[in-house]
Amino acid sequence: MMRFSLVLALAAAVVEGTLSSYREPANFDPKKALASRGFNVKQLSTFFGANYNASSGDCTAAVSILHSLYPNRTIVQNTPEEQAWSLGYWSAIQGEETPAVVFQPARADEVSTAILVSRWTQCKFAVKSGGHASMKSASNIDNGITIDLVNLNTIQPSQDKKIVALGAGLKWGAVYTELAKHGIQVNGARGSDVGVGGFTTGGGISYFANKYGWGCDNVASYELVTASGSILTVTPTSYPDLYKALRGGGPNFGIVTRFDLEAFPQGDIFSGSLIYSYDERAKVIPAFSKFAYSTDTKVHTWMFVLNLGGQKVFSVLNMYSSPIVDPPVFSEMRSIPHLSSDTAVRSLVNMTDQIAAQGPAGSRDMFWTHTFKMDEAFIAWFVDMFYAETDAVQGKYEGMNALPLIQFLTKTNLERWGRNGGNSLPLRAEGGPYINIIFALMWKNEADDDVLISTIARVMNKAKAEGVKRGLFVDYVYMNYGSEYQDVLESYGANKEVLRRVAEKYDPKEVFQKLRPGYFTFNGPPRTVGPGAS
Ligand SMILES: Cc1cc2nc3c(=O)[nH]c(=O)nc-3n(C[C@H](O)[C@H](O)[C@H](O)COP(=O)(O)OP(=O)(O)OC[C@H]3O[C@@H](n4cnc5c(N)ncnc54)[C@H](O)[C@@H]3O)c2cc1C
Ligand SMILES: *[C@@H]1O[C@H](CO)[C@@H](O)[C@H](O)[C@H]1NC(C)=O
Ligand SMILES: *[C@@H]1O[C@H](CO)[C@@H](O)[C@H](O)[C@H]1NC(C)=O
Ligand SMILES: *[C@@H]1O[C@H](CO)[C@@H](O)[C@H](O)[C@H]1NC(C)=O
Repeated sequence: MMRFSLVLALAAAVVEGTLSSYREPANFDPKKALASRGFNVKQLSTFFGANYNASSGDCTAAVSILHSLYPNRTIVQNTPEEQAWSLGYWSAIQGEETPAVVFQPARADEVSTAILVSRWTQCKFAVKSGGHASMKSASNIDNGITIDLVNLNTIQPSQDKKIVALGAGLKWGAVYTELAKHGIQVNGARGSDVGVGGFTTGGGISYFANKYGWGCDNVASYELVTASGSILTVTPTSYPDLYKALRGGGPNFGIVTRFDLEAFPQGDIFSGSLIYSYDERAKVIPAFSKFAYSTDTKVHTWMFVLNLGGQKVFSVLNMYSSPIVDPPVFSEMRSIPHLSSDTAVRSLVNMTDQIAAQGPAGSRDMFWTHTFKMDEAFIAWFVDMFYAETDAVQGKYEGMNALPLIQFLTKTNLERWGRNGGNSLPLRAEGGPYINIIFALMWKNEADDDVLISTIARVMNKAKAEGVKRGLFVDYVYMNYGSEYQDVLESYGANKEVLRRVAEKYDPKEVFQKLRPGYFTFNGPPRTVGPGAS
């Protein structure tokens, strides 16, 4: 490892917090920007020779710079440390990538330096928060810089407990555990091991969606590091266009280093799942479907369609956000004969830990999602189609778990999307309620990728085609469950162009499209060739 002894007095912060006319200067030079922070750019030629082209994109210079600037915050390629670190991804598909360097900044200005180093050296980067995205290169990058936000882990409630400042590398379990001590909560993920960063930038469905909307609808303010390394405080008034874009537009505008979330008083919840035999489908599907029309802001439900060792079952979540045993709203669900139930009054931490334990890290994973207008008959059709299409593969592949999940975007939920000026997602309450179907697939061996990925693609393409035929298909792909073969931003309709213009304004050189290439950008699906392509 080549080391520099850099003369460095990094400016503590490069805050340009309130200029809503922010634009990157046309002549912006990342090398000069680094030099202006005390970074001795000339030393590169001392180490690599006068003819060394630092901008060749081969990452040697970037690794050396980051390692010498921040020896305690870097993990280098092919070391035991890197191997241990890679287990922090939920999906093995992401964990098996080997970055040239893992950089773990502890402050926004260190994130800023990393972006400038990437721009100068043209070494590509990825950004990791909770590491729960399943597709290759979403938050990890072979032979590039993986910026792991794990050290951005502040949990700071305001004095009046109405706002909580959250570091962008936290997982929700840590957040819920800490906030429970204050008697408050925030609108985060339903599994404790999901990260704050990806969840909130893509949308974010929580147990409290009917009361508060999605995660992105509850952000009072973002701290964002832009492509030129500026640290912006993004609120509805400081940068209204950027604020709206960040609410659901994904990773296309910068790196969020802190989310200031609106908090609410919250104690224990009533929650758990009832398992029904498929034989009860004529009762379960109509009873579950009623929740699509619910205006009760305390209710949250979903239905998993499962094959447990050859037995076809439904698992229906009954969640109520007050500590009331057996709320009347679930009495019809309870009255249908069921195989088991684990509903109880419990803490949010307990519930979200249970969900996390049901989907442990280490498998190969894939998600695929589509949205439809609410229609009970369509749900029944989907369930039968899923079993018909997957019975032949069930139990044949090591570690295989095929988990379609059906959930509702109620009008009550969608009305909350309008909070604080509205988010950048394309649905409107008038068109609701909607069905969101997610197909989650887990398996063990790479050798089984092709057959299983083509199965999930076939099931979801059939669902789409039938939805089109019945006039129910809605072209909205929810980013957080989108597959790498889906064009998430194209599904935002007219909002895509609005988002693209915002990205062009704050990132004119397309750093977050080209130097941070993974996940959902404006350039079509992350992948177009392979077993999931139709
Ligand atoms: C078991 C499980 C449970 C889930 N539960 C829910 C749920 O209840 N509701 C729901 O809506 N979704 C849920 N999801 C989906 C989840 O929201 C997405 O997988 C999400 O992308 C995970 O975020 P992350 O930070 O953990 O992932 P990461 O892989 O770290 O990040 C995902 C993407 O976001 C980008 N990103 C992350 N942080 C930032 C940042 N600070 N600034 C800019 N870009 C950033 C990354 O670069 C990457 O492209 C669940 C997923 C799993 C596997
Ligand atoms: C350095 O390499 C990049 C990428 O290959 C190239 O575009 C650029 O022109 C090179 N610069 C010099 C001075 O050779
Ligand atoms: C950073 O690492 C050096 C040696 O690698 C060590 O001496 C020092 O204590 C570390 N500093 C911190 C803050 O961990
Ligand atoms: C949740 O609480 C129940 C009842 O106290 C307990 O049996 C269970 O183990 C807990 N689950 C988790 C994941 O903590």
